Amino acid sequence: MFKERLLTPGPTIIPQKVLQAMELPMLHHRSEVFKKELKKACEGLRWLLSWDNDPLFLACSGTGAMEASLLNVCKPGDTIITVNGGVFGGRWSKIAERLQLKAHEITVEWGCPVTEEQVREAVTKNPDARAFCIQHSETSTTVLHPVEKIVREVKRLAPHILTLVDGISACATAPVPGDPSVVDIFIAGSQKALMLPPGLSVVALSARAWKAVEETPRRSLYFDFLLERKSLASGETSWTPASTLIVGLNAAIEMFREEGLEAMYKRHLTLSRMCHAGMRALGCELLAADAPCPSVTGFIPPQSIDADKLRTETRTNYGVRLAGGQGLFKGKIVRIGHMGFVDPFDAITGVSAIGLTMNKLGASVDVGAAVSAMMKELQS
Ligand SMILES: Cc1ncc(COP(=O)(O)O)c(C=O)c1O
Repeated sequence: MFKERLLTPGPTIIPQKVLQAMELPMLHHRSEVFKKELKKACEGLRWLLSWDNDPLFLACSGTGAMEASLLNVCKPGDTIITVNGGVFGGRWSKIAERLQLKAHEITVEWGCPVTEEQVREAVTKNPDARAFCIQHSETSTTVLHPVEKIVREVKRLAPHILTLVDGISACATAPVPGDPSVVDIFIAGSQKALMLPPGLSVVALSARAWKAVEETPRRSLYFDFLLERKSLASGETSWTPASTLIVGLNAAIEMFREEGLEAMYKRHLTLSRMCHAGMRALGCELLAADAPCPSVTGFIPPQSIDADKLRTETRTNYGVRLAGGQGLFKGKIVRIGHMGFVDPFDAITGVSAIGLTMNKLGASVDVGAAVSAMMKELQS
């Protein structure tokens, strides 16, 4: 018997309850039954995000929602400020280039969070910037940026700058970092802690962001937020939606309501602390040790062990699938995803499998000590 365990930072494990909801006979997306599902998803997301208006549903992955957001509030020639401390921060600038926007990058050392000082300097240098773009958790470096403090500072210095927050890997693992008075656009993606397959993105906009959308020349048909808002007002989406995932989202949100938001965020923090304690006990260096995100733990194995080999061997011997490094960190780090439908025993299994693999690869680590360190965190 070989049991596979998906401990990657997306896609993630899908609970049985969500799978069963998505297995029901296909609904037509213009039917009254589906309209009810869409309405329920809007209400559920308003609750989950503590948002004051209905979010949009886009049938695309997270990158599509990032691009759609910039397309709808910026016009060619506009300047945006981006926080580039990893692959996803860098993605804002890549999108900007395609959309003919000027990106002023705040370069952040990989593994570190952006500071208020860096942001103040960038905003002061670019007072006419149209938007400020940041990740809540930078999945590639496992950093949680102090977004709430940062967006409040941006708004204090320049209230006209729109704040765009990529919450793709943070949503449902940590509270939304601010309400629509300071966060103008918040983006979430299905294949992360929302516990769904890939293919659905959610974009929530503030009243200020909606005003900006109204003022911005339309440049895309598929990603026209004004059309989407109009369709949503009549209970539909403009194009064929990822309807099965929207039905699944309602089942996922029911599970979130049962657990409660505070308990859910606390569970993710506990998982993060457990994984940090376990990996430290195995002699590995932790990434982002001072600002870890609650959804994924990154570590650097000892020099004698190749990071990619460690990952492959953990998967082939123990069925635990982990993620590797991206960009600058390619081949250098390993990431344990613990977002969504993950409990402490999944984390213990993951770290134990890594420890056993390290020993197979020639290290001499005490796997029991790692489990014990994790148990201590669980019971603290
Ligand atoms: C923080 C963050 N932003 C953006 C993305 C890109 O999302 P997608 O791969 O769904 O396009 C990811 C995916 O891992 C992510 O973690």
